[in-house]
Amino acid sequence: MADHRQHNAPFGLLAELTYRCPLACAYCSNPLNLADYADELTTGEWRRVLIEAADLGVLQCHLSGGEPLLRRDVVEIVGVAHDVGLYTNLVTSALGLTRPKAEQLRAAGLDHVQVSIQADGPALSDAIAGIPSFQRKIDAMRLVKELGWPLTVNVVLHRRNIDRVAEVLDLAETVGADRVELANTQYYGWAWRNRDALLPSRAQLEAAEEAVRAAGDRLNVLYVVPDYYSRYPKPCMGGWASRQLTVTPNGDVLPCPAAQSLPLPRASVRTDPLAWIWAESPVMTAFRGTDWMPDPCRSCERRELDFGGCRCQAFQLTGDAARTDPVCHLSPDHALVASVVAAADRAGEPSLVPRPHR
Ligand code: SF4
Ligand code: FES
Repeated sequence: MADHRQHNAPFGLLAELTYRCPLACAYCSNPLNLADYADELTTGEWRRVLIEAADLGVLQCHLSGGEPLLRRDVVEIVGVAHDVGLYTNLVTSALGLTRPKAEQLRAAGLDHVQVSIQADGPALSDAIAGIPSFQRKIDAMRLVKELGWPLTVNVVLHRRNIDRVAEVLDLAETVGADRVELANTQYYGWAWRNRDALLPSRAQLEAAEEAVRAAGDRLNVLYVVPDYYSRYPKPCMGGWASRQLTVTPNGDVLPCPAAQSLPLPRASVRTDPLAWIWAESPVMTAFRGTDWMPDPCRSCERRELDFGGCRCQAFQLTGDAARTDPVCHLSPDHALVASVVAAADRAGEPSLVPRPHR
């Protein structure tokens, strides 16, 4: 049995610079209690975090949010990450990616840009984003390519846009995307409130899979099936505190962004070194390895493959993060997922509630 004290070096750091955001997406999975994150880390604190992360073995740094471009010091933060040897990826809505800002980021050493888009045309994309933004995103994608960056186009899929997958892939090809990430909605934060309006039907999923297959020869597409429809859960984050860590805008350290809602003791870069937090803090060790597992995971031959699924999803659905992920058909709580999927297969268009601007 794996010992929870054994741990790898983290590979990726998700640096959530701010939860402020110009968009108001109905599928937003960021926390609802944004006031708790308003006291953002300073430039100097981020500098220390990045140095400590590189010392710990982190290789990739994803600068995210919210909208990371809203941080006035984003160029400086990118420069520090670059100087300590991290591969830097800017995860952005592209609002605020002006030519001067892009040129500064290029000079600071930014390696990669990931731009999110909500659909393949302005009417639907802007309706989902909550503000007119489609054309600015297209312009920014072209700028990213012009400046020589690799471009990933990210689209969060749900009931309202999943029928447009073929057109979204055509658009990505037109703007010169090197990679397309079709991510299914994660039902946390505001997205949880809209779950019934966002969960696609099985027929929609099958049509989308066909569109992805058809584009497979000409585009590099990462497509992950929404796990509500799977027999087994996803190996979330490659296992709890196994290869990834998240630092939130106020300096809290988590195994994944959604873990902020779990009733676990806090760990913060403001009070402890990142190396200690990664190796020993209660939040990181709570579900590391397999010691914590209940049945049926404890005796299941897949326990080292999916690690019992997603702790945040287990908590969201059952109120107990230590239960088997209810997505698993072996879970005693599987009916919680099956009933939602059955409802999504019935006709109807529950209305979407946009996230209020913040
Ligand atoms: Fe994975 Fe647990 Fe289901 Fe086995 S019982 S497949 S380990 S979630
Ligand atoms: Fe937190 Fe899956 S999102 S463990």
